[in-house]
Amino acid sequence: MSSLTGRSFLTLLDFTPEEIRFLLSESARFKELKRHCVKHRWLEGKNVALIFEKTSTRTRSSFEVAASDLGMGSTTLDSGNSQMGAKESVEDTARVLGRIFDGICYRGYAQATVEKMAEVAGVPVWNALTDDFHPTQMIADFLTIQEEFGDLEGRKLVFFGDARNNVANSLMVASAKLGVHFVACGPEALAPAADLVERCRAIAEETGGSVTLTEDPKAAATGADALYTDIWLSMGEPKELWKERIHLLEPYRVTPKLMAKAKGNAIFLHCLPSFHDRETTVGEEIYQRFGLKEMEVADKVFRGPRSRVFDEAENRMHSIKAVMYSTLC
Ligand code: CP
Ligand code: NVA
Repeated sequence: MSSLTGRSFLTLLDFTPEEIRFLLSESARFKELKRHCVKHRWLEGKNVALIFEKTSTRTRSSFEVAASDLGMGSTTLDSGNSQMGAKESVEDTARVLGRIFDGICYRGYAQATVEKMAEVAGVPVWNALTDDFHPTQMIADFLTIQEEFGDLEGRKLVFFGDARNNVANSLMVASAKLGVHFVACGPEALAPAADLVERCRAIAEETGGSVTLTEDPKAAATGADALYTDIWLSMGEPKELWKERIHLLEPYRVTPKLMAKAKGNAIFLHCLPSFHDRETTVGEEIYQRFGLKEMEVADKVFRGPRSRVFDEAENRMHSIKAVMYSTLC
């Protein structure tokens, strides 16, 4: 039993640096077990509900496989195959699922929704992405950085793009907690909320990390250990915003030139999915409308030798397993 037992996982703001480091080491342990084909069906008899109000490939697959590896049953629900939303409130749904399942994963819109679920469910609730935060992604991301460099403290992580989206917010919080120097690089119009920046700066003062906001991509990339970006328009945002977003964010694309400003052994990270070529319907549509062959990251960087995006994606599964196990057991 750890200090995490019975707790919900809604934002890393709720966890101490030690608790986050514990989750990182548990993720590494589960990765080793899986690699050596050692069975770990330690939660046999338990069941989890996985609610996805937004689409998902990595997070949903990770929760399902992690639950199965731990010996648990899982039921995936969305607004199309359940009563939630149209005929039953979030609160009633959470109360019902809390009587049937041992834990609930929720991906949706408002952070307030996942917080409400956690308040009434009576079982741990895991935030699988909201408009504000994506905390399970962070355990995978920082595990990937740790695997590369062997440590985290004092490293420089730069996020380029929409620096007030869920992933950027969570990177800022996680960096502050783990003593990492975080730089949010993007236009002022897409800067993170001032109150969250202030809160993260206060945390970073305790851990030796820092939080910097800048509009200058070259200065931001200089000396960085990891360059990170995300799509320019997040799930739930209207398509009409593409034109404005492209105009605002094109200067922040992660290119080979930008990578060259970073340390020689710097890595490239991306939560995925990514628009790095024209091999998606959205990517092709953007090419037809605006002439862009790649968006937030150059294809050369995405596929290049410093890219760790697929290690990062694999780590989603190990880290989600660690989150479920540590909070359920
Ligand atoms: N990174 C991530 O959350 O991916 P999915 O949207 O595919 O789950
Ligand atoms: N910011 C992105 C992250 C996807 C994993 C979104 O919310 O769509």
